[in-house]
Amino acid sequence: MTEIKTPYFLIDKEALDSGVKKLRTALANAWPNYVIGYSYKTNSLPWVIRYFKENGCFAEVVSDDEYYLAKAISAEHVIYNGIAKTRDTFLEAVRNHDIVNIDSEYEIDWLDELEKGAYSVGIRVNFDLESKCPGQTQCGEDGERFGFCFENGELKKAMDRIESKGVRIAGLHLHKSSKTRMPDIYRAISEASVEIARKYSLKLSYVDIGGGFFGGLESKPQFPEYFDMVAGILRQQFSPEETALIVEPGMALICAPVDYVTTVTDVKRTARNTFVVTDGSRTQIDPLMTKTSYFHELVMDPGRIRRTLDRQIITGFTCMEHDRLFELKDAEELLPGDRIVYHKVGAYTMCLTPLFIKWFPDVYLKDGEDLIKVRSRWRTEEYTCSICGDKE
Ligand SMILES: Cc1ncc(COP(=O)(O)O)c(C=O)c1O
Repeated sequence: MTEIKTPYFLIDKEALDSGVKKLRTALANAWPNYVIGYSYKTNSLPWVIRYFKENGCFAEVVSDDEYYLAKAISAEHVIYNGIAKTRDTFLEAVRNHDIVNIDSEYEIDWLDELEKGAYSVGIRVNFDLESKCPGQTQCGEDGERFGFCFENGELKKAMDRIESKGVRIAGLHLHKSSKTRMPDIYRAISEASVEIARKYSLKLSYVDIGGGFFGGLESKPQFPEYFDMVAGILRQQFSPEETALIVEPGMALICAPVDYVTTVTDVKRTARNTFVVTDGSRTQIDPLMTKTSYFHELVMDPGRIRRTLDRQIITGFTCMEHDRLFELKDAEELLPGDRIVYHKVGAYTMCLTPLFIKWFPDVYLKDGEDLIKVRSRWRTEEYTCSICGDKE
């Protein structure tokens, strides 16, 4: 594949298939009445979202744009979450009997606009995870901002308002983004759902525990560790006959099957360092610039003569000094034409990459022996194709 122009992303279909199969098996064993909602925000490349639709996953969307994207690929089942819904898409989803989880006060007002009928919604729960899993939450002592707070009564108030409009509370949505992704988080989530359902005598059609799981990493918890434990707790209050378990994985399914392939373009020797310049960039695999290391592999022609260098710093194509990916210590020198392949980069990369200096790169799919381009890199035509001067 060295003849393909870099940089590009490469999706491994076999690894994707294997992740979905493992997830389904673990869920089916733990709680036979389950739904997988693939999290669009994690990677909404059209080929990727179609793949998950064809594999029976619901579309988990969190904005009008994502909602319309799901419609554009004829997704049959939508889970509509988040704080970026619009009134029209919200009402359309409720009327369609999609799974809609209310997260903001104004959504409850929008319910007034529904015609007479039997409607149901879910509600996003905000509960104090930091007190149950100290140090594991993303915002620590400041707490999380999504959903209606259980502890201070806001959740009960919101549920009462919804029910006063004749709309049924069908489900609880308890997604939490944690630093650790450990099973403890899901223990706390499951316990909270049991406690809330008991306290308010809720008859729920679903408990949605959200996403945030590990997947595709042997050294990390595997799917059965999460779901066997979750099911054990849910059974204290719910049964699979009456209540579905919804999961919303993104990272766990799409991170591991994707590589990013780059080529060394130049080597700069300065007074202080050797900088290996590549045609890839940190902005394309770590757009938030938070990672401290990357799974990577060096593909070097063994026929070339190389010295061993104390230190080489691998850098990207942008003009930002901190577009530095990793260091090589006491290693053979990299030379122009060598390739660096980054592994497990399918989550929060393609959909978060900025249009900075270079546009979006090619994406290929490896399906057995076949290599298929599933997105062509953006050129000037794509960048300039939006209509200017439109009046809203
Ligand atoms: C509501 C919701 N569901 C699912 C996810 C997917 O999380 P992950 O990609 O970590 O599995 C997120 C991510 O932030 C989310 O906010």
